[in-house]
Amino acid sequence: MFSHKIIEKNSTLLLVLSLLVVTIGGIIEIVPTFYLENTIEKVKGMRPYSPLELMGHNIYKREGCNLCHSQMIRPFRDEVERYGHYSLAAESMYDHPFVWGSKRTGPDLARVGGRYSDEWHREHLKDPRSVVPESIMPGYPFLKAPLKVHDIAAHLRANQRLGVPYTEEQIEAAAVDMVSQADPDSDGAEDVVSRYPKAQVRDFDGDPTTLTEMDALIAYLQMLGTLVDFSTYSVEENSR
Ligand code: HEC
Repeated sequence: MFSHKIIEKNSTLLLVLSLLVVTIGGIIEIVPTFYLENTIEKVKGMRPYSPLELMGHNIYKREGCNLCHSQMIRPFRDEVERYGHYSLAAESMYDHPFVWGSKRTGPDLARVGGRYSDEWHREHLKDPRSVVPESIMPGYPFLKAPLKVHDIAAHLRANQRLGVPYTEEQIEAAAVDMVSQADPDSDGAEDVVSRYPKAQVRDFDGDPTTLTEMDALIAYLQMLGTLVDFSTYSVEENSR
């Protein structure tokens, strides 16, 4: 067509019109995502972290575990065979900020929960080479320090402000729940499980006298990837 020739011969005009077209395309793609109620599909089983798991997640970030470990199983055959079902967006929706990681010096940890015993984690975190002789992971023996949390309820509240659906009841009971989860004989042990389904209640660090950072970190690691039941999860059911 005649007019088309004009555009093709005038590079400035071509550039301006190309930009216009790309802009329209971009707006059409991006703007709706701001108006969608939820861009992450809801998945049965996902719940906010229990107070102890949340502290474990915080220690994980503090120690930079995410610099060597990813928590993002990609939908490729080799990854799925090694680590399990590929990660769903919903599985990290309560992470603020997320810890997907971008480098794997060590293996992916998205589904490490239940793969090892608490005792293995304890020994491994204290001195990785005592259980994996060729390991290059640093030791974290100082995690046996008591877990110091001045106001766990405020941590939950901050997460609630960021969109994590903690209830008022959960926030009120946060301090008790944090201690009870590492003490199966406590009065509050059952409440932890009723407030946080599938929460594992036991003495994670092998030292029942003190609630330590090790308790929190192992509670967190043992929970990773265990919330969604993939024997019943189906993509079709969830996309309905
Ligand atoms: C310098 C890199 C580095 C850092 C930092 C690091 N790791 Fe590792 N991690 C490794 C490597 C390498 C391995 C594989 C060898 C081994 O098992 O020790 C590993 C293995 C692991 C495993 C066993 C995973 C499996 O499936 O076998 C766990 C669990 C783990 N790390 C947790 C952590 C935690 C928690 C932190 C933070 C406190 C951390 N790592 C920090 C490098 C790292």
